[in-house]
Amino acid sequence: MITFTMDGQQMQVAEGRTILEAARERGIPIPTICYHEALAPFAACRMCLVELANRRGGQLAPACAYPCEEGLIVLTNSEKVRRSRRMTIELLMASSAHVPLIRAMADELGVAAPRFTMAEDDCILCGLCVRACDEIVGVRAISLVNRGIAKEVSPPFRIASNACIECGTCVLICPTGAITLADVTGGGHSVHPWQSEFDAIDCRLCGHHPEAWRFADPAAALTEEVAP
Ligand code: SF4
Ligand code: FES
Repeated sequence: MITFTMDGQQMQVAEGRTILEAARERGIPIPTICYHEALAPFAACRMCLVELANRRGGQLAPACAYPCEEGLIVLTNSEKVRRSRRMTIELLMASSAHVPLIRAMADELGVAAPRFTMAEDDCILCGLCVRACDEIVGVRAISLVNRGIAKEVSPPFRIASNACIECGTCVLICPTGAITLADVTGGGHSVHPWQSEFDAIDCRLCGHHPEAWRFADPAAALTEEVAP
């Protein structure tokens, strides 16, 4: 077991537990965007940064990926942490201030408007869709491509390497509603906002062709039973 301190509380956790897992077990709130319990930590959004008070003069570290260490002193809501979160949300607001999740987080952090502006985009590049497609579905039909401000999610194309089974996992896991899966005519489908049409392949696990359970309304997929 590891013994450490979080916000003045001494805690014991099994080796390998992250700071975020320990915090959630104790009901200590740490905001997250790119974290999902079903996926490996990605540490992309930096929203979950906490202060490690006795490491390198108060180093900031992503709680979702940083493992608890013996003797560690963690501060989840210090001024340094709040300043960092405000900057993170401001950067996200530059292109996605219209997204309800970002708006709500900004309100929570007291950030009214960003100092920077970019072209409006529903996607905040959290990578959840790409990782879910890889780690949960196992088909890697989409990926994050390019670097810096050119970074984007790359869709399946109408080429032989198309791997999408049209399961809709990316639609369901996206926290901003940036992806919708819509029926189009002729047996193809369109994944927005990329506008690419493609024919989904059969699922390699169940062999099912997705035409039997395609859906036009992603929200309905949460309540509709998927055909076996
Ligand atoms: S499309 Fe959605 S899930 Fe994928 S990276 Fe963008 S915001 Fe995240
Ligand atoms: S939730 Fe930890 S870096 Fe995104």
